[in-house]
Amino acid sequence: MTVHFIGAGPGAPDLITLRARDLIAASPVCLYAGALVPPEVLAHCPPDARIVDTRDLTLDEIIGELQAAHARGEDVARLHSGDLSIWSAVAEQARRLDALGIPYDLTPGVPAFAAAAAALGQELTLPGVAQSLILTRHAKRATALPPGEELGALAAHGTTLAIHLGTQAIEEIAATLLPHYGASCPAAVVARASWPDEVVLRGTLETIAGQVHDAGLRRTSTILVGPALGDATGCESHLYSAHRERAGR
Ligand SMILES: C[S@@+](CC[C@H](N)C(=O)[O-])C[C@H]1O[C@@H](n2cnc3c(N)ncnc32)[C@H](O)[C@@H]1O
Repeated sequence: MTVHFIGAGPGAPDLITLRARDLIAASPVCLYAGALVPPEVLAHCPPDARIVDTRDLTLDEIIGELQAAHARGEDVARLHSGDLSIWSAVAEQARRLDALGIPYDLTPGVPAFAAAAAALGQELTLPGVAQSLILTRHAKRATALPPGEELGALAAHGTTLAIHLGTQAIEEIAATLLPHYGASCPAAVVARASWPDEVVLRGTLETIAGQVHDAGLRRTSTILVGPALGDATGCESHLYSAHRERAGR
């Protein structure tokens, strides 16, 4: 018996991996993270699978479900939105499973920031403009950020930022970033990237909060900020340069 932690992607049912689909289909139990996992993904479960929405469960209750499946000898597909490597709460579940001697593995998924970049039709790193991407989240209504990870400190790098869990604090976020990036810095908000009701807003640090309000956006969104999001062309990458030496030529 194994607990399969699975990144279920940003929302579109065809943005899960083939491995994820096969593991879901082979697992008699499926635990999934509420409204962020679409019904079409759950449709891969076997017909008589036990399917549990963990949105309103405590960690103890979730571990109870995993222990019960272990006692029955049944594999579990444990679905989280996006990828498992960021804000998935896998670490705390894995710690408990280690202590209980219950085996588990991890299958990655498409993260929300990648789906948001695809919705914008843009690369988040541009040669000569931005070569780093900072993934962070807003601190209110969730676990506090460790010292040194405050948005102002991250903004000092001036590179592309992908900010999660922050739509409702967009004014505060824009005001914090403005002294570092300038009022005309490109900013975008992508709500429910890859879902049928996806919304894409493009603006600047000066305009984006007003745009979010005008659109009435309170839904699951990713905020992207940085010069790479604008029409800054930068230079071309070394990877495909005609001047780069290539083996075998
Ligand atoms: C708890 S985090 C989970 C992140 C996830 N593990 C990932 O890899 O993207 C949830 C946040 O991710 C962002 N998010 C998740 N799905 C999204 C989507 N389809 N479109 C835009 N942002 C999304 C939102 O900022 C949301 O508040």
